[in-house]
Amino acid sequence: MTSVARVEAARASVAARLGDPVEIGLILGSGLGELAEAVEDAVAVPFGEIAGMPVSTAPGHAGRLVVGRLHGRRVALAQGRLHLYEGWTAGEIALPVYLLRALGARRLIVTNAAGALNADFAPGEVMLIEDHLNLTGANPLTGRNDAGLGPRFPDMSRAYDTGLRAAVWATGLVERRGIYAGIAGPSLETSAERRWLRSTGADAVGMSTVIEVIAAVHAGLAVLGLSAITNAATGGPDQAPDTIEEVLAQAAAAGRRIEALLARLLPEL
Ligand code: HPA
Repeated sequence: MTSVARVEAARASVAARLGDPVEIGLILGSGLGELAEAVEDAVAVPFGEIAGMPVSTAPGHAGRLVVGRLHGRRVALAQGRLHLYEGWTAGEIALPVYLLRALGARRLIVTNAAGALNADFAPGEVMLIEDHLNLTGANPLTGRNDAGLGPRFPDMSRAYDTGLRAAVWATGLVERRGIYAGIAGPSLETSAERRWLRSTGADAVGMSTVIEVIAAVHAGLAVLGLSAITNAATGGPDQAPDTIEEVLAQAAAAGRRIEALLARLLPEL
């Protein structure tokens, strides 16, 4: 669990360079970092220059905060997220979320790359996250709660904001919606694990997002989650081996759809 003091130190170390408060925070997943190129009047701050910020080592994750305007909105975008599989604690992974909140964000958009447990889903498609299963065994709120950041026992019954979900679905630009199962990784799931995950009702599986969303709900942010479906992960007899190259290529394809969605959605928010 992080603290107001740590979040404030991070904010104070960059605030002067960033200008006006932001409205919307974004955390971009594997292969989806290109969205940052669309930010206008961008100020980019490497994570290494933000006090106390962990620095990502994952492929496809640049590790910087980009602040500017996107489709008419003031945004702060964490390009390069942190993962449990890199060795970061859940508390460390949550720090960018609290920083985005401290910079003014009241909404958080999270994107990720995910495998499709649902046999109807195809690589390159985008799934609107309706809910999640946190199967990582970790929680960013473990430890003493700093009440200045949020409540001890945050309600998670509507972790993904119903209004934002409805707004996304109404655009008709997203073809899938479902439940995201978050695992720790870095090994992919066995086929048996994938069949078990399907039986739980999960539609997609990935190695991120759930930790940040718990922190975001704790911090009072309205959350929108989008999964770039990058590979079939049904665990059936036709299950093909997964490669990071294929995941990143499909994430880029789905990323273009997410970009089109944000171009429609952000001006309406
Ligand atoms: N499993 C876990 N994480 C992933 C996958 C997957 O199949 N695809 C992209 N990220």
